[in-house]
Order: sequence, then C-alpha cells, then structure tokens
Amino acid sequence: MTTASAPGKIILFGEHAVVYGQPAIAVPVPQVRATAVITPAPHAGILLAAADFGQNVWWHKASPTHPLAAAVHALASQLTLAEQDQSLSHLTITVSSTIPVASGLGSGAAIAAALIRALALHLGRADLATPAAVSALTYEVERIHHGTPSGIDNTVVSYEQPVYFVRDLATAAPDILERLHTTGLSDLPAPALEPFAVGQPITLLIGYTGVAAPTKESVGDVRRQWLADAPAFNALFAACGRIAQQARHALAAGDTASLGRLMWDNHALLQEMTVSSAELDALVVAARTAGALGAKLSGGGRGGNMIALVTAETSAAVRHALLTAGAHTVLEMVLGRDWLSGLAE
Ligand code: PMV
Repeated sequence: MTTASAPGKIILFGEHAVVYGQPAIAVPVPQVRATAVITPAPHAGILLAAADFGQNVWWHKASPTHPLAAAVHALASQLTLAEQDQSLSHLTITVSSTIPVASGLGSGAAIAAALIRALALHLGRADLATPAAVSALTYEVERIHHGTPSGIDNTVVSYEQPVYFVRDLATAAPDILERLHTTGLSDLPAPALEPFAVGQPITLLIGYTGVAAPTKESVGDVRRQWLADAPAFNALFAACGRIAQQARHALAAGDTASLGRLMWDNHALLQEMTVSSAELDALVVAARTAGALGAKLSGGGRGGNMIALVTAETSAAVRHALLTAGAHTVLEMVLGRDWLSGLAE
C-alpha cells in the first residue's frame, strides 16, 4: 500500500493578475488535505474510488478528461508503453479529501498532486514524485479543467511551501504575452518561484461563503473583459502585481498594518474585475467592522473563500462577525517564520 497527500492552498495576493504574468503569493493550508492510497488488487485495470465525490470509475473506461483519470494519464505519459502495460493494472486508487470543492482552496490540484505522487512512489519512480515533477504533471491536469491556469495552485500544493510566484508566459501562454505587449503592458516581472520571508508570524482567518464557484468561469469572464478593454485590465493587473510585490516586503518586515492595507486594496481591484460577489463583500465588510487589519477575497472569486488578517486580540471577534455575516466555516491558520526554510526539490 502506498499513500501520499497534498494540502489545500490559499492565495494571499495576486489572483487573476497572476494569469497575466503578474506576481502572486500563496501558502499551503495544511489543515485540509487530499489523500491518495494505492493498493494492489486482484482485478485487471485501475479502479479509481473517491467515495467523498460519489465516484467509482475504471481508469481505462473513464473519459481522459475525468479529473482522476487525467491524473493517472499525466503520470502514464512519463512511462514507456511497456512500463504502462506492466505496471498500470491490478490497482485500486482510493482518493479522499477534506478540502471543500470549488472554494478557492485548490481541491482539484491537491487531489491530482496526491494521486500522481502516490502512484509514482508505488511504481518506484521517486524521480516522478519530486515536488517539481508532481507540480509539472499536476499542471497538465489543471489545464484540462481550468483552460489557462497560471500554475500557482499546482506549485503550492506540490511543494507544500509558501511561494512568491510569477508564471513564465513565454512558454506557457505566448498568446497572452503577445497581446499584453501589443496593448501596452511590456514591463512584466521575470518568472519566479521563490520562498518568502515572514518577519513576524501572521494569523489569517479563512471564511467560506458556502457558494461553490468554478474558477474556470471567473477566469473566463476576466479574459473576456480583458479582450474587450485590454488597457483598463492591464492597468488592474499591474496594480495587483505591485501590491503582491509590496506585500512580500511587508511580510518580510513583519509590517502587518501595511499588509492589511494591501489586502483591502487588492480586494477593491478584484471587485473592479467583477470577480467579487455580494457574499464575499459582506464577509470583507464584516471583517473590517470587527477590527481585522485587512481582508480580501481569495482565489477565483464569485464565491469560495475570503481571508482576513487578524491579531490574537481581534481573532475571536472577527471570526464571530464572519459567521454572523454568513460564513459557513471559518478556518484559522498561522503563517510562521519556521515554515519558510526554502523550496525543497
Ligand atoms: O480558485 P483558485 O483558488 O483555484 O484560484 C485560482 C487562481 C486564479 O488566479 C484565479 C487562476 C489561476 O490559474 O491562477
């Protein structure tokens, strides 16, 4: 039996703009996880069992775009045909997850990453179980379901480290790069995958609206608006990018007051991109009224999660205010200094 798991993730700054080459900051949420367990089985083929999602499918019969089947295909693409025949059979892969679906916590990426890593380890392919390899293969699965993912979700859940991330548009999305340039945005930051320092531990509350909102739709809507008015949206993306850069410095300096301000500002820009919602705005306002240092939606938006920056003194009041304003759940996480040793390969 072989088991692997991957955490949820939350974006602190830069969602949506990250698709267009701007920096973003994201951290793992280890309290919620996806787990894959591989067990040898008497049957031919691979049975994919995900009771949490009401799924029980055979790999070779499922559509290649089925999320679980796609993860197996991603790993299979790295094996020779002989290896596939020999090893991709007589297995049951059981997948479970405590990460709420379509909520901005990276559920799909974490499930794919856990499955790919477990299968790689089970087949004795440690080279395909490294964070970099799992991340690259998980990205291929994300592409099926999200169209134009930036790559930040697969990166955070595979490395299980906070990251400052800038995608490489030149290789991943040359069409976006070209249109950014022709519409006047040319000074993009260089691609980056870097850990970041935290000068002082920060406490975040993650409030879930209870509204499942597919990222693909909000990403598609932003794209349509960008195509219709590129200069305006380029300016919004660039402003989000500057906020992510400033946030990185504020995190390193332990400057929570600035960090909070940057969260309000980032939320306002996301509202302009039309990816907030009445539910998200209500939670952000409730957090502000209850004394949070900052709050914003997180992830694709239109539902899903928001985050609030709190202190030991304000945490209980903000939590209460979020629940009163309609949050279905509130998770607390502390982003500490010791977590951030570096990005293990
Ligand atoms: O909804 P989530 O948390 O999976 O976040 C998506 C983040 C976006 O920036 C909106 C899309 C992307 O691919 O980065």
